[in-house]
Amino acid sequence: MLPMLGLLLAAPPVERDLHSASNPEHVRVTHIDLDLTADFEKKQLRGTATLKIERVIEDSPVLMLDQRGLKISSVEISSDGSTFSPGTQIASPTKSVSEENALAIQLPKDAKSVRITYATGPDATALQWLTPEQTAGKKHPLLFTQSQAIDARSWIPLQDTPGVRVTYSARIRTPKNLLAVMSAANDRKHELTGDYKFEMKQAIPAYLIALCIGDLEFRPLGPRTGVYAEPSVIAKAAAEFADVEEILTACEKLFGPYRWDRYDILIMPPSFPFGGMENPRLTFASPTALAGDKSLVSLVAHELAHSWSGNLVSNATWRDFWLNEGFTVYLERRIMEAVYGKERAEAEALLGRRSLEREMAAMEKRDQILHIDLKGRPPVDGLTDVPYEKGALFLKHLEAVYGREKFDAFLNGYFDHFAFKSIRTGEFVDYLEQHLVHGDTKANVKEWLFEPGLPKNAPLANAKALAQVESQAKAFATGEVKAAALSGKWTALEWLAFLNALPMDVGAGRMKELDAAFALTKSGNSEVLFVWLLLSIANGYEPSMPRLELFLTEQGRRKFLKPLYEELVKTSAGKAKAAAIYKVARPGYHPVSIETIDAIVKP
Ligand code: BES
Ligand code: ZN
Repeated sequence: MLPMLGLLLAAPPVERDLHSASNPEHVRVTHIDLDLTADFEKKQLRGTATLKIERVIEDSPVLMLDQRGLKISSVEISSDGSTFSPGTQIASPTKSVSEENALAIQLPKDAKSVRITYATGPDATALQWLTPEQTAGKKHPLLFTQSQAIDARSWIPLQDTPGVRVTYSARIRTPKNLLAVMSAANDRKHELTGDYKFEMKQAIPAYLIALCIGDLEFRPLGPRTGVYAEPSVIAKAAAEFADVEEILTACEKLFGPYRWDRYDILIMPPSFPFGGMENPRLTFASPTALAGDKSLVSLVAHELAHSWSGNLVSNATWRDFWLNEGFTVYLERRIMEAVYGKERAEAEALLGRRSLEREMAAMEKRDQILHIDLKGRPPVDGLTDVPYEKGALFLKHLEAVYGREKFDAFLNGYFDHFAFKSIRTGEFVDYLEQHLVHGDTKANVKEWLFEPGLPKNAPLANAKALAQVESQAKAFATGEVKAAALSGKWTALEWLAFLNALPMDVGAGRMKELDAAFALTKSGNSEVLFVWLLLSIANGYEPSMPRLELFLTEQGRRKFLKPLYEELVKTSAGKAKAAAIYKVARPGYHPVSIETIDAIVKP
């Protein structure tokens, strides 16, 4: 038995992160310096990652890193950060901790940093290498990363747990005609040199390290804000997100100072698997948010809100994910209220509530718990409305119990107290107890956090306009009201409420009537189109099938793809259709979406 085994396997002082094989309780990485070349031909990032380390326990003999599919060609050790000598990899003693591959490096007593020379593998889950045809401009290739939740390890060997925060620097070499941007300080006027340097001085968890390389242009929106996009998309993006500077100002009023200097948005190619990703200083946003009428701007409010909840105060493990997303949805609604009015914020809250109820009705009890148990499961199993909407409701409930003034003071204090820290649910509970609840049972904290379902007094959304639209939907569904008699002069949110309130088996006849009156198959709002297409599949409404095919191939957002494919495979004809569409669409999806859809369609 190796002498260090006892130390490595000693019970950690706090519950460990089940999704990382790293050992930050013994040795911690504090800074990462990357020097990577992006090889678009080989679809490979290669170069070095130099990790500065700090002993938590004196003389810890091993540094455990996460890595997935990396080709490691050398490991070197340095005691002064400048001269390196060959280091020793050892067999991973904690393989059972995770199914992932670990990289265990023996540490001499005086080791201060570790340099790893490596290349990414062909299946790096964080990376999508797009051919020119897959971009908006069709002329240049593009690469982007998506590290959340546990995919950073597929492009950087590191301690891939959100409980560890690092600063980073990077030198990225690219083909000469492309621009590289990162979740770091970006030079907005950088010439196309093929050689870019970045500094991220604020300590962040690994899942927030991000890179994109492509034919990108920058346009300012305000003094601290701007947008990057492919040239053909930049004007549309700038118009859609024209309010971002104002939103940022509103955020600071509500939650305290913005601590990341700049806030820019990068519009991703359509295959981006998420609506948005809160990479610090540079949100990555799906082009499906560009509705043309700012109707999906809450997505930016959401990602910007993460600059407080998530990026400033981060979940320490993925079972604490609600601390990121529940807070963020709550903040998002507060922002929407401050900038666009209470009516709109409450309308979005109502849609969120309905979505939560629908999803929860079909969900196992264990997944309805905010402090979810993810033992034996990947973090993405926790990616449901529960952390988002139930989490937000919990905070709305606290606001209702203690009043907005007190709750806002609490929130500001919380962000300040835990700034640049990663915390577990327990630490939140302690802080809440000491600073707001003080032993009061009205807060009902235990039921909210540790039990399934929704507590009886969960706050309701007060959205009159939407409630009216919902009752029209009911009347329309029963045939009491004809489509032509519906007002139909609705906002995107009202349409969403209407469509969501229809029974899933409303019938192809009613669908046809609606389409004739309101041309929903042609909707330019991705959220509305999504619900419409879902209903179309469920009701065998054929005229929108070409649009469905297009939607499933022209964008790759997991949240849209998953339910649509799931609905398709419910019938045998649908199964054939799903297989045919997927065959064409799959090569264009990001690995994250592919993993999800493979399980549904089985290519
Ligand atoms: N951080 C999430 C995206 C995420 C979560 C990626 C978990 C990977 C694992 C992001 O902030 C988010 O929640 N995006 C939403 C949009 C938002 C408006 C609710 C999405 O992508 O749909
Ligand atoms: Zn989020």
